[in-house]
Amino acid sequence: METQPPQIPIEKTPNSRLRELDRDEIPFGKIFGDHMLTATYAEGKWRDVKIVPYGPLELSPASSALHYGQAIFEGMKAYKSGAGEPLLFRPRDNFKRINQSADRLCMPPIDESVFMDGLAALIRLDADWIPNKKGSVLYIRPVYFATDESVGLKPSDSYKFVILTCPVGAYYSHPVKLIVTDQYVRAFEGGTGAAKVAGNYAASLLADREAKAKGYDNVIWLDGIHRKYIEECGTMNLAFVIDGVVVTPKLTGTILAGITRDSVLTLFRDWGIPVEERAIAIDEVAEACGSGTLTEAFGMGTAATIAHISTIGYQGRDLILPPVTERKLGNRVLQALEDIKTGKCEDPHGWIDRV
Ligand SMILES: Cc1ncc(COP(=O)(O)O)c(C=O)c1O
Repeated sequence: METQPPQIPIEKTPNSRLRELDRDEIPFGKIFGDHMLTATYAEGKWRDVKIVPYGPLELSPASSALHYGQAIFEGMKAYKSGAGEPLLFRPRDNFKRINQSADRLCMPPIDESVFMDGLAALIRLDADWIPNKKGSVLYIRPVYFATDESVGLKPSDSYKFVILTCPVGAYYSHPVKLIVTDQYVRAFEGGTGAAKVAGNYAASLLADREAKAKGYDNVIWLDGIHRKYIEECGTMNLAFVIDGVVVTPKLTGTILAGITRDSVLTLFRDWGIPVEERAIAIDEVAEACGSGTLTEAFGMGTAATIAHISTIGYQGRDLILPPVTERKLGNRVLQALEDIKTGKCEDPHGWIDRV
C-alpha cells in the first residue's frame, strides 16, 4: 500500500499580491510570492511545518545565526511547461546540497519530507506566481538558520527553515564583464567554499563592490594559495572553450558544486564534446585569448543560467572575447537547458520534477 505524505497545514493569504505583479518589469529578488513554508527544529526534531502568508518572522536579537553565522541557503527555480504545469529542475540535488552545507556548519540535516514535500506544496499553491513569459521564472530560496537565544559560541540547538519565492526576470541582461581579483580570496581548502554558507557571500561583497565601481559585473576568484588558478565567479561556476575543449575548474572543495555546472558538463559529454575538469591558470586563459584559441567563456548558475563572458579584466587590461553570436557551445547548451526545464524536449536524465 502506498503511504501518502502527511498534509502540510496551509494558511492562505486573504490578500494576494499577484495582481500587482507587472510581468513586463520584474526586478531580480525584490518581489515575493504570496506564501512561504516555515519549519522549526527543536528538541532534536523537525516540527511545526506549515505554509503561511509571506511576511516577517519573529526573531530574538540574540539569535545565534546573527552572531556566529550558522546560516545557509539554496537557490533553485520553478518553470512552466507549455501546458502551464509547474516544473522543478533537479530539486533533489538542492536538497542534498543544503544538507551538505548544514553538515559543514554543524547544523542538523533537514528531513527530506520537510524540504521536498514542503517545496512541492508551496509551488503548487503559488503556481500562478511562475511568470509564463520568456526569460522569467519563479526563483525559490530555501534558507536555514540558527535561532538559539544565546550569546556563546556553540552549535545552536534550535533552527528555522523557510522557503520563500520570488518571480524574477533575467539576472544579467547582457554578456558579462568580469574582473580577476588578486587582492581578495574567496575560499581555501578546508574552509567553507564548497558550502552554500551565507558568510561566503558577505565576504565577497567588498571585491564585488570594487569590481562594479570599475565597470565590471562581477569578480573572478583565484585560488588562495598560488593566486593563479581560476576558482569561480560570485554566483556562477566558470567554463572556457579552448581549442574546442570545454575546460572548467575541478571540484576541489573550494568552489560550489553547481547543479548547472553538472548539467552543462553532462550535456556536453552526451554530445561527444570533450570536457576537462582540471586546474586552469588565469595565464592560460589570457594566452589562449591572445592566440585566438579561446573561443568562448561562460558562467553557469541557477540565477544566471548560462552567462556569456564578453570581457575579462586582468592585470590592468581587458581580454576581449569573441562576439556572442559566434558562441556555438554556450548558445547550444543554454537552449538545450531551457528546453529541458520547460518540458519542450525529452528529459533523458530525469532532471524534471512535476509538483
Ligand atoms: C558561489 C556560487 N558558485 C556557483 C553557483 C552555481 O550553482 P548552481 O548551478 O547550483 O546554481 C552559485 C549559485 O548558486 C554560487 O552561489
